[in-house]
Amino acid sequence: MDKKVLIPRERIRERVQELGVRLSEDYRGKEPVLIGILNGVVFFFVELVMAMSIPLRIDFIKASSYGSSMTSSGKIRLLKGLSLHVKNQDLILVEDIVDTGLTLKHILDNLRTQEPASIKICALIDKKERRKQPINLDYCGFTVNEGFLVGYGLDFNEQYRYLPDICVIE
Ligand code: IMP
Repeated sequence: MDKKVLIPRERIRERVQELGVRLSEDYRGKEPVLIGILNGVVFFFVELVMAMSIPLRIDFIKASSYGSSMTSSGKIRLLKGLSLHVKNQDLILVEDIVDTGLTLKHILDNLRTQEPASIKICALIDKKERRKQPINLDYCGFTVNEGFLVGYGLDFNEQYRYLPDICVIE
């Protein structure tokens, strides 16, 4: 399958640094819990946390929506929930890509039942065009209109996660 670089590694690094600085300013004096949605988020998550300069805690959720196709099945399964207790905590939900929004909606509904003090969303990539659930991204790295993306943690059938750039499959 042919791949074209869409967002080079250096540009990703710069943008993630900016997001880390902004989050640190916005959450100064608090100790947020950053929640990564596995697996696609791993590269972004680590780079973001390392760009932050305030005390924080981390946890992970694993959900599955995509089988082996390029469109959301709409059926979201929670494969791993939180380990931390997040009641009255400030949560930052960290996601790789928001496409239809169905995955995030499901996870948000689940998190709200745990009565956190606040929940904000930080996504690396917003694919607005295909949104089915109105979800506001509080922090967003890049907006992309079309195409299926791989690299920097993003996969197609579990392939290409290792690529350092974000590429579009052609
Ligand atoms: P949504 O439920 O349609 O918003 O899909 C969100 C999830 O689908 C993301 O967390 C990704 O794992 C996956 N996904 C959506 N678009 C892409 C893409 O272009 N490349 C790789 N994974 C994607």
